[in-house]
Formats: sequence, C-alpha cells, structure tokens
Amino acid sequence: MDILRKLTYGLFIISTNSTKLCGCVSNTVVQLSSGDKKLIGVSLNKNNFTTKEILDKKLFSVSILSKEVSSDVINEFGFTSSKDNDKFSKFNYSLVDDMPILNEGIIGYILVKVVNIVDADTHYLIIGEIYDSKVLNEGEVLTYKYYQDNLKQIKTNGVSYRCPVCGYIHNGELPDGFKCPLCGLDGSKFEKVS
Ligand SMILES: Cc1cc2nc3c(=O)[nH]c(=O)nc-3n(C[C@H](O)[C@H](O)[C@H](O)COP(=O)(O)O)c2cc1C
Repeated sequence: MDILRKLTYGLFIISTNSTKLCGCVSNTVVQLSSGDKKLIGVSLNKNNFTTKEILDKKLFSVSILSKEVSSDVINEFGFTSSKDNDKFSKFNYSLVDDMPILNEGIIGYILVKVVNIVDADTHYLIIGEIYDSKVLNEGEVLTYKYYQDNLKQIKTNGVSYRCPVCGYIHNGELPDGFKCPLCGLDGSKFEKVS
C-alpha cells in the first residue's frame, strides 16, 4: 500500500539473551506512554528467532542505531537469522545487565521488561517497561529513509522487487523461499520494479 511508504521510522537493533545471544533489526520501536511508567512497543515478526527468545526471556534491549553504523551490522542483523548464526560474535559488544549491546554504531540503549504481548497477525506488538537506559553519544540517529538512501547496498544486476504490502525493496533476484523481512509476505507476490 503506497500510503504505508509515507510513514517515517528510526532503525534499531532488538536483542535478548535467552538460550543464546540474538538480535534483529527493527524499524518499529515506538514510545507508548510518558508517565512514571515508561512504556515502549516494538512489532516483531512471529517467525523471527529473536521474537521467540524475547517471549521466553521476557526482557530485551533496544539499541538506537546511529548514522555512523556499518552496513555490515544491518546486513547481518536484518537479513540473517540468529537461529543458525551467532551475529554478535562478528562485532564488538558488551553485556549490559546480561543483554548484548553493540559497542559501535549506536547512540544509546534501552533495557526493557515485557509487560504485554498483543497479537498483530503476522507480528506481535511487544510492549515493555523501560528499566534502564543510557545515551552513549550525541551523534545523529539513523532513520529508515537515510538507510534506504545511503547505506542499503545496491546489487549490480539492476533488478529490484517491491513488496506490495509494506513497500520493502529487495535488490537483485529473489532467492527461493524468500519472504519480506519487514512484513513476511511471500516473495512470489513481489512486484518487479526495474
Ligand atoms: C531495515 C529493516 C527493518 C526491519 N524491521 C523489522 C521489524 O520492525 N520487525 C521485524 O520483525 N523484522 C524487521 N526486520 C527484519 C528482521 O531484522 C530480519 O528478519 C532478521 O533476519 C530476523 O533475525 P532473527 O531471526 O535473528 O530474529 C527488518 C529488517 C530490515 C533490514
């Protein structure tokens, strides 16, 4: 739906530490309340390894990505699964209250305790209360648009496919079994755009 492409987003790494260290890229973190109890929400696909681990652990962290982040971080955390991949082992990270936080490319982090889970069809809206947070530097936060315009690596064969549901663009031919990393739509439903 074209209108969904008009929504603006930040970019984050959501991580946890249940059976193993894991994490994924998300553009759907939102502040939900502003009283004494600080609630935030994140919409995570039910199929993500990180989602299952958060439901188990009931705790997660949100790292706010900076414009300086390496595209390797986004490619690793946004396009591979922690199920068969130790993503954090490829980068420098620290454990903060047992949660993995990258040492570079982030503006700060938020530690969150899950308080509610809302079924949102393909996703869960995971609502949590902030119990700790830190601003690490005053750099510029990464937006989804900045990522699309500057960090996303364009493959050379010139063919791209667009998800008709959320507008996600995949550059290059779609691999077998491809599913939209944002909304989970089957790759067979994608539209060729170039
Ligand atoms: C720019 C970008 C934004 C994304 N936003 C979300 C999101 O908000 N929710 C989600 O479930 N997946 C999102 N994804 C997809 C996950 O990061 C991706 O499926 C990841 O490989 C899941 O890893 P996991 O299986 O280790 O949890 C996004 C990916 C990218 C590249």
